[in-house]
Amino acid sequence: MSGKMAIKSLLFLVQILLLVLPSYAGFYDKGTEVINLTPKTFNKEVAQTNYTTIVEFYAEWCGHCKNLRPQYVKAAQNLNGIAKVAAVRCDDKANEPLCSKYQVKGYPTLKIFRPNPKTPGKPMMENYQGERKAKSIVDTVLGRIANRVKRLRAIDLDSWFQETDLPYVLLFTNKAATPPMYKTLAIDFASTANFGIIKNSEKVAVEKYKVSKYPTLIVFHFDNGEWIKEQYGGSQKKEALYEFVGRFAMPVEGPDAGKVPMHASKLIHEEL
Ligand SMILES: *[C@@H]1O[C@H](CO)[C@@H](O)[C@H](O)[C@H]1NC(C)=O
Repeated sequence: MSGKMAIKSLLFLVQILLLVLPSYAGFYDKGTEVINLTPKTFNKEVAQTNYTTIVEFYAEWCGHCKNLRPQYVKAAQNLNGIAKVAAVRCDDKANEPLCSKYQVKGYPTLKIFRPNPKTPGKPMMENYQGERKAKSIVDTVLGRIANRVKRLRAIDLDSWFQETDLPYVLLFTNKAATPPMYKTLAIDFASTANFGIIKNSEKVAVEKYKVSKYPTLIVFHFDNGEWIKEQYGGSQKKEALYEFVGRFAMPVEGPDAGKVPMHASKLIHEEL
């Protein structure tokens, strides 16, 4: 073989390897939104959270798991920031305790976990029996998100504003149902802000707060001895809303969990 040919076949080999390699990077690699769980991380990611999580128990050799993979990756993309999509690889010895604890008998097994308000740290669990398609997974998970958003009428507002000294987040909507993304936002700020939703048909409130489009989000926060109204004008993307509410209240979950807000509002005021 000439030197030139040897180099050519070497390059060819490298090309083949590059084509093949990604499948060795793991079933759900870092490029996806799917969280890979281990016995070490399971509790923190699934049990110690108020988010809803779907967990797939799978084995890498399993054909149905391979078929589900692109749909599951897509579901994780669509639920990003709204609910968690996770996976446990059961043909990895280290994960066996988890797979036996949850009595996984076939692959893939999908289970939905969500917080039980009566038993913190011990979530409710349900088997997902729906279609193994992204849309059906997404719709089912969205329907299992805890709702901490208070539905209000105009006449309820005055008493609602008396409930706590924490910031109030109020969404004016023209939709019948509370958007799942808004429910998750309320979970992000559980115990640090009050969340309410009010319909466009509540004319007295709409006029009082001069709301002219839907959705409109308003935060009321206490600063320098008075309540200040801040109307949100940004995009309806979860990260943007999270960042905005995070200026007035400390998130307890999500990427900025524990971050002290720019307007520390009442907390500081009370110390003065
Ligand atoms: C979950 O919600 C409960 C009740 O509001 C709260 O006490 C707890 O801190 C929350 N947990 C997390 C991880 O945010």
